[in-house]
Amino acid sequence: MNNTAKHLTAILGAALAAALLTAVPALAQNPQQLGKNHAHQRVAVSHRYLLLPVQDREDLATIVVLSDNRQVQSINVRLAVDKVDYFVPLDIERFGAESLLLDITFHGDRRYTGAMKDFICWKEMTQTETFDTANREAFRPQYHHTPSYGWMNDPNGMFYKDGVYHLFYQWNPYGSMWENMNWGHATSTDLIHWEEHPAAIEADALGTIFSGSCVVDKKNNRVVAFYTSDGRSQVQSMAISKDGGKTFVKYADNPILVSNQPDFRDPKAFWNPEIQKWNLILAAGDEMWIYSSDNLVDWTFESTFGKEYGNHEGVWECPDLMKLQVRGTDKQKWMLICNINPGGPFGGSATQYFIGEFDGHKFTCEQKDTRWMDYGKDHYATVTFDNAPDGRKIALAWMSNWQYANQVPTKQFRSANSVPRDLDLFEYNGEIYCGVTPSRELRAIRGNAVKKLPQACEIVIDLKGGPAEITLSNPIGEQVVMQYDTENRTFSMDRTRSYVSFSESFPCVTVAPVRGEMKQLRLFLDNCSIEAFDAEGRMAMTNLVFPSQPYNSLKVTGGKATIYEITK
Ligand code: FRU
Repeated sequence: MNNTAKHLTAILGAALAAALLTAVPALAQNPQQLGKNHAHQRVAVSHRYLLLPVQDREDLATIVVLSDNRQVQSINVRLAVDKVDYFVPLDIERFGAESLLLDITFHGDRRYTGAMKDFICWKEMTQTETFDTANREAFRPQYHHTPSYGWMNDPNGMFYKDGVYHLFYQWNPYGSMWENMNWGHATSTDLIHWEEHPAAIEADALGTIFSGSCVVDKKNNRVVAFYTSDGRSQVQSMAISKDGGKTFVKYADNPILVSNQPDFRDPKAFWNPEIQKWNLILAAGDEMWIYSSDNLVDWTFESTFGKEYGNHEGVWECPDLMKLQVRGTDKQKWMLICNINPGGPFGGSATQYFIGEFDGHKFTCEQKDTRWMDYGKDHYATVTFDNAPDGRKIALAWMSNWQYANQVPTKQFRSANSVPRDLDLFEYNGEIYCGVTPSRELRAIRGNAVKKLPQACEIVIDLKGGPAEITLSNPIGEQVVMQYDTENRTFSMDRTRSYVSFSESFPCVTVAPVRGEMKQLRLFLDNCSIEAFDAEGRMAMTNLVFPSQPYNSLKVTGGKATIYEITK
């Protein structure tokens, strides 16, 4: 309880004080205008949170939080000017001060909106003890991970330890568009039910916290996180957890890796038993750079990969590197995952991969063509869990595309992660490809077979051997059409007649090559996403859809469909 609360409780009694304290106007005084776009707002801290009113179409305002004339936090928020879209909570109690000064600079040209003192944000900032994260969104998925509020992009730092999967993610808790990156944190014991935790790694003087990875360092009984500090330069930093990933302490001598390369980010570290050392791979421009280390702190540069291989129409990001089994053989190969944006097969972001050999120093690619892990338009920043049980390589992808991720029609939160997928390799026509199979944990939530189409379900389609067509539609004529073309050996998904008005880049037909006959299709629907898999894991396609009314009709030719409820 803070001083105001103690004082009120003493003179009014607990019940009356609590009633008064649930939501009091924060701002006893008006903002002090320092310049055309610059104001000071004093906050007498009486509650845990200051609710900041956000209007997404506005430009950013920088809020520097000052305590005793020292900066304790700096964030960028689209403070509401004439309409509040939603609120975000700023924890003001954590600084232990009775009073804080918010130094606020509005960016952009706001002449059209009138005088700063009339902005609606001043009136609407209030303090509260709790922040309501109950879902308010029709398009929030039911069995995919989403942040309880705010913007999310890449999955980060995923690891498994003591029965728990840890998922960190690029998170903006101060708005539903990309900004203020830090690592949000969620845990799960089954890869389906996720519990949210406070942010694990937050911005500091080196910069905001961009993507990276964690390793479970068993010898030293710790979890070590590697991430990019995005400040005036992009540099790599580390943080150490001694409590199994609950809390992290940043390494005192960060950064641990620097370069002149401006795009230098997304370190993925892993233990390589073949050389008895740690390896780390990161994205540098449109290449990958590989390092090795004995102690996780001192890294030796080993080699670069990529110049002559794959797609280079964008920046290479979020790598991963792993050894995988080729199905049905005793052969193993290395696979390098390379997310690229733009340059994806249908525009914008996508995940390409390379098959080859890795000796701890150099990755040697054995394929000539460009290969995509998922042929949808909403599958990006794919990386795998460190230390997953039974040698599994479990991947999650961010289900969006940088072309329109900031515009998709949700407010309280933006973006979900894909369903978990197990990666392996398979041989087809003498070539080795990446296999992508829905993780077995999804079988456990398969419920009863039902007649009516739920918004969250799994549809299993036993194909009859010839071409097939699957149409999902709603009463107002919006539809998604999938086709299995056995002649051209392709699977396609057409969402041009789904709800699409928020971005010109959204309508599309995505097409995947089918390698080997598909016998069964598994479709995972969850309010705003469709993930289509060849049940044998040789084709994956992930696409968002935003029907303005739920799809209630399923028509299938060329196969027999069973609709399963999802039980959570
Ligand atoms: C990929 C990415 C990463 C970066 C992060 C920033 O989506 O651009 O390269 O670390 O997002 O949020």
